[in-house]
Amino acid sequence: PVIRREDYLPPAWLVPEIALDFDLGLDATKVTSTLSVKRNPEGNGASTLRLNGDQISPVSVRVDGDAANDWRMDGPDLLVELSGDAHEVTIETALVPSGNSQLMGLYASNGMLCTQCEAEGFRRITFFPDRPDVLSTYSVRMSGDKATFPILLANGNCTAEGEGENGTHWAEWHDPWPKPSYLFALVAGELIANHGTFTTKSGRKVDLNVWVRPGDEGRTQHALDSLIASMKWDEETFGREYDLDLFNIVAVSDFNMGAMENKGLNVFNTRYVLADPDTATDADYDAIEGVIGHEYFHNWSGNRVTCRDWFQLSLKEGFTVLRDQLFSADMGSEPVKRIEDVRILRIAQFPEDSGPLAHPIRPDSYQEISNFYTATVYNKGAEVIRMMRTMAGEERFRKGTDLYFDRHDGTAATCEDFVKAIEDGAGLDLAQFRLWYSQAGTPQVAASLTQEDGKAVLTLHQTVPTTPGQPEKQAMPIPLRVALFDRATATHSGESLIVLDKAEDRFVFADAPADPVLSINRGFSAPVAIEMARPDADLVFLAACDDDPFARYEAMQSLVVQHLVAAVGGGLDEGQRSAGRKAIGEAFRAIVTDAELDDLMRGELMLLPAESYLAEQLLVSDPGAIHTEREGLKAWLGATFADELKALHDRVSAVPYSREAEARGARKVKTQALVYIAAGDSAEGASRGIAQYRAASCMTDRQGALMVLASLDCTEREEALADFLARYEGNALVIDKWFSLQAGSLHPRVLDHVRALAKHPEFRMSNPNRVRSVFMAAAMNPVAFHDPSGEGYRMIGDIIRRLDPINPQTAARFVPSLGRWRRVEPVRAKLMRAELERIAQEPDLSRDVREQVSKSLG
Ligand code: ARG
Ligand code: ZN
Repeated sequence: PVIRREDYLPPAWLVPEIALDFDLGLDATKVTSTLSVKRNPEGNGASTLRLNGDQISPVSVRVDGDAANDWRMDGPDLLVELSGDAHEVTIETALVPSGNSQLMGLYASNGMLCTQCEAEGFRRITFFPDRPDVLSTYSVRMSGDKATFPILLANGNCTAEGEGENGTHWAEWHDPWPKPSYLFALVAGELIANHGTFTTKSGRKVDLNVWVRPGDEGRTQHALDSLIASMKWDEETFGREYDLDLFNIVAVSDFNMGAMENKGLNVFNTRYVLADPDTATDADYDAIEGVIGHEYFHNWSGNRVTCRDWFQLSLKEGFTVLRDQLFSADMGSEPVKRIEDVRILRIAQFPEDSGPLAHPIRPDSYQEISNFYTATVYNKGAEVIRMMRTMAGEERFRKGTDLYFDRHDGTAATCEDFVKAIEDGAGLDLAQFRLWYSQAGTPQVAASLTQEDGKAVLTLHQTVPTTPGQPEKQAMPIPLRVALFDRATATHSGESLIVLDKAEDRFVFADAPADPVLSINRGFSAPVAIEMARPDADLVFLAACDDDPFARYEAMQSLVVQHLVAAVGGGLDEGQRSAGRKAIGEAFRAIVTDAELDDLMRGELMLLPAESYLAEQLLVSDPGAIHTEREGLKAWLGATFADELKALHDRVSAVPYSREAEARGARKVKTQALVYIAAGDSAEGASRGIAQYRAASCMTDRQGALMVLASLDCTEREEALADFLARYEGNALVIDKWFSLQAGSLHPRVLDHVRALAKHPEFRMSNPNRVRSVFMAAAMNPVAFHDPSGEGYRMIGDIIRRLDPINPQTAARFVPSLGRWRRVEPVRAKLMRAELERIAQEPDLSRDVREQVSKSLG
């Protein structure tokens, strides 16, 4: 069944209050839910109250205290016939949390009980109008065995607690803020807190807790520090204060996604909470800070103002991703953060936009909403709001967001409400800009710079590619930050913001230098692809001289992309190949040796464009050829600049451990240098790799060394892998790294390794982190996935079919990699398609996998 955005109808009945009573047990939990229901004056007046359910059945149904007769099941839903305008409906359900392998609703994880309700998990706990525009005040009571569940948590504040009979105890929680059911949460288990406090700008003292399993408390300080930093930052940057006296975060080891913003009780995947230098990399620290910020920021962008329906998901996710990006930029290096965000967009979102699952940031239809928690809704959603901010400027943008929060506080809003508030508050005309919400596809902008009467003329032409269901596209407003450089002085006379809002337009720069070098889409001001054939010399110039750090990075990337795309297409003779390499080498040497450059930025600039991004540049590509060319270039750079790279590796290896930017930069560059050294000379790579491994005083260096060694065929590889496994026995998150480093390696026998890993005693199909550590790493690894035998495709097809009955949401996440078949050369394409067909033939596919597979087959 397809759900359509245009079919939205307000609910016929509202539920202003709900009381939930849980009799907790890992294997049996009884839930009694009492809903005060009220006819919605804005509804259609229907007498039927529809309560959604999913794999539950009612033990009893009462209306106004009496056993009700007037109810029936409609598929998974419970329908109650009601006369009049207000009633109390009481429903009992019985759950088996330990049997809930989908990890949606109430489930058992590592001996504790926890919930995940977004988007439609609450209906797996009790019958309810499980849609985000039904807001209720929640009162929760829970009781259970005190030894099994010493800690009892729910949303809001604990209002009472006490001892019961037979070793039980109970607690009552009340959340004063009305919320949709997807924000409900409950956690019960043996947990220990790292406690802190935060006093808001207006003087509210908030108790903060990061709850983890006993033994993990020593790895929670960074999460707590990140929470405090987030609370302060949201006050300063967006004027948003916290609104309860308590904020709890709980880390659970079985979780489908990253984390969840339940009101006052965020539930996190352990990987976004636990960190210390010995077990977490610098990237892990950054991810924790970003996700803690993200979930905290949802308190306003998501909870205080929520979504009317799930088509509006980007209203909270796009905006909250932008907020977490700005937060992380303020906490660390703004340019480096921008480069990382663009890299993620290009790797994860551009392929969505150009494939069979393309959808606008505000989709028009879906079969299973879980499939729409995508890089498009999240990351492109953030880019779209960032463009509004760029056009308005920071101050006016803030006026827009203030108006948005004022206007819609306490309500379930739409993307249109958001755009209107920014329009009114920031004073922008966003009439045409709304196309960014309705049109899918990454706009392609062809640029050319010419001279006319001594003036520079920039001609731009945009095409928005055809996407499924959207054959015709209209021109979008594309804000581009541009500057024209004088070659002689390496300066420009000021940056301008131009907006291309027609299919084609010309922009005249009167006071441009003669023969300027164009720097365009600076800071990645618009999420588009710029198409411009440029002399290598211009790109080398920008890579060395552009004062916009993103543009510098972009010039280096373009230089490499231009070269590799030509090489993959077979369009380079030996002379052209060596000329191309020479230009890249010149820029690379400057990056490796520039003493002015900070190491964090150097680490970004040294990265070659991802194979998936290179594939994006071609309509149809040969993944084998892309890999060979990219690796060839890497080896050439490694061999050609061996001395410079070794000197760099030696210099940064001498920097002692600290969490300061300088030391983090040193560590980033250390592994980057090692990657190139190993590519140029595998023996040197093995000896430096094992030396870095043995000398490592932190996970960043140890993991970096192990990553490089994992791709080499040498005894040092076996030594390091064995040591790592023994050293971190029992630490699930680190063992995940051990699995994913092998599954992600460039080792010639990687497929054998993946097969062995899946049979390893530590492998678990029931744990999403572990499944992803092997199979997502393999699916993202071009060597494994695109092996010419087709065995990589078979492996991913198998995992989808095996995982689907256990955890459909996680299974469906593997489908898009196979869905790219149309963009792959015909021999592999046929194998990929065959895997999708084999999945499609399974009789009892989940809605999640069914939707992704049928759309991918087209
Ligand atoms: N709202 C959460 C976040 O952005 C994601 C939850 C998604 N959960 C799901 N089951 N699809 O942080
Ligand atoms: Zn979110």
